[in-house]
Amino acid sequence: MDPRTTTSKREEGRRTTPRGVSRRTFIKSAGILAGTVAAGPLLSACGAIGGGGGTSGPLKIGLLLPYSDIYAVLGESITDAMKMYFEGIGNEVGGRTIEIIAEDTQLKPDIGLEKARKLVEQDEVDLVAGVVSSGVAVGLRDYFHENKKLLIIANAGANVLTRAKKSPYIFRTSFSNWQPNWPLGGWAYENVAKKVFVSAPDYGAGHDMVSGFLNSFQAMGGEIVAEPQFTPFPQMGDPAPFITEIQQAKPDMVYCFYSGGAAVTFVKAYGEFGLTGDIPLVCAGFTVEEDVLPSEGDAALGAKSGLHWALQLDNPTNNAFTAAYKDKTGKDANVFAMQGYDTARVIAESLNAVEGNTSDVDQLIGAIEAVEFPSPRGTFKFDPATHNVINNVYVRDVQNVDGELHNVVIDDLGEFADPGDDSKG
Ligand code: BEZ
Repeated sequence: MDPRTTTSKREEGRRTTPRGVSRRTFIKSAGILAGTVAAGPLLSACGAIGGGGGTSGPLKIGLLLPYSDIYAVLGESITDAMKMYFEGIGNEVGGRTIEIIAEDTQLKPDIGLEKARKLVEQDEVDLVAGVVSSGVAVGLRDYFHENKKLLIIANAGANVLTRAKKSPYIFRTSFSNWQPNWPLGGWAYENVAKKVFVSAPDYGAGHDMVSGFLNSFQAMGGEIVAEPQFTPFPQMGDPAPFITEIQQAKPDMVYCFYSGGAAVTFVKAYGEFGLTGDIPLVCAGFTVEEDVLPSEGDAALGAKSGLHWALQLDNPTNNAFTAAYKDKTGKDANVFAMQGYDTARVIAESLNAVEGNTSDVDQLIGAIEAVEFPSPRGTFKFDPATHNVINNVYVRDVQNVDGELHNVVIDDLGEFADPGDDSKG
């Protein structure tokens, strides 16, 4: 079957939200009336907590990222690319010198919240960016929402933050967990197999990703051959029992989501048990992304994945970004670095628009909503109804390219905004 066939089912899920929805509309649609937001327990008599938010002096950006455990490389990639972007613009935005204060969230929601409080209340940052894990992001939501502090999420995809728990104070430059997976489910049904075994880590992101994939796969008529397999998070432990369970289920295809150290553990075991090349692997792109491919080796060959970026996307911004990142770090760029790069650009463009003034949060929110630029992934723009980025989703295939493993784009599924509710997984 021609992989470029566009089906009506796929079209059903594509949502092109009109641009130009005002902040008032956003707040109404979020079910949150600005004037009646319950004041957070930490609000002081003179306004929001923390002194951050000014017009002069250094622009302080708090970074909340994992620098330890299985997602450490994700945190480092985001940090390196953000710094690279800021260096490229002379470390200055809106007339203010950029100062970054980075904290390790360790993948733990309670630590993430403690570090957020430290950044906002002690360091008095102007805004906070980062966050890799869905669990940490959900744990931060109420703090930022209730205290009207800006959080720009550079990875964590928790669907709920674009749905029941969306907030005018939270933007996401990366993806919702639904975005790469829902389009992939229909594609996999049409192009790979009709019977699947699914595997993912047992935390919010794992459940979101599986739900998005299965929603479209099953709507097309696809079947799951066993109950979804949810493995321990963050440390999977010995992968052997999980791979054995897959072997015994004899599926025609395996779908999975893993990232960082867990992706390496899962995919290497998939190869060692002889499943690579035997049972097609279809996955959320993080599982075989450029940060983990060198460690996964040939076990990843032939894996098909859905994601909003690929190293070899041929556009001027991506070519410049990937070359500069390799120059700076000695490594190929990966999707997390790309998201960090775009996050830095969102901060720079919005801060320039308000001439460095972060004291008027409504004005700054309006400036962030209006940001649009050519990104390494294609055009970058937010869905004004949710503050989540709208992404083009690609299908990639792990191939040996001149002696190195890379994700080669084999299909372009088009543009997807998160549906804003749970109706499609
Ligand atoms: C998440 O927890 O949302 C996540 C982590 C790594 C890759 C993708 C999503």
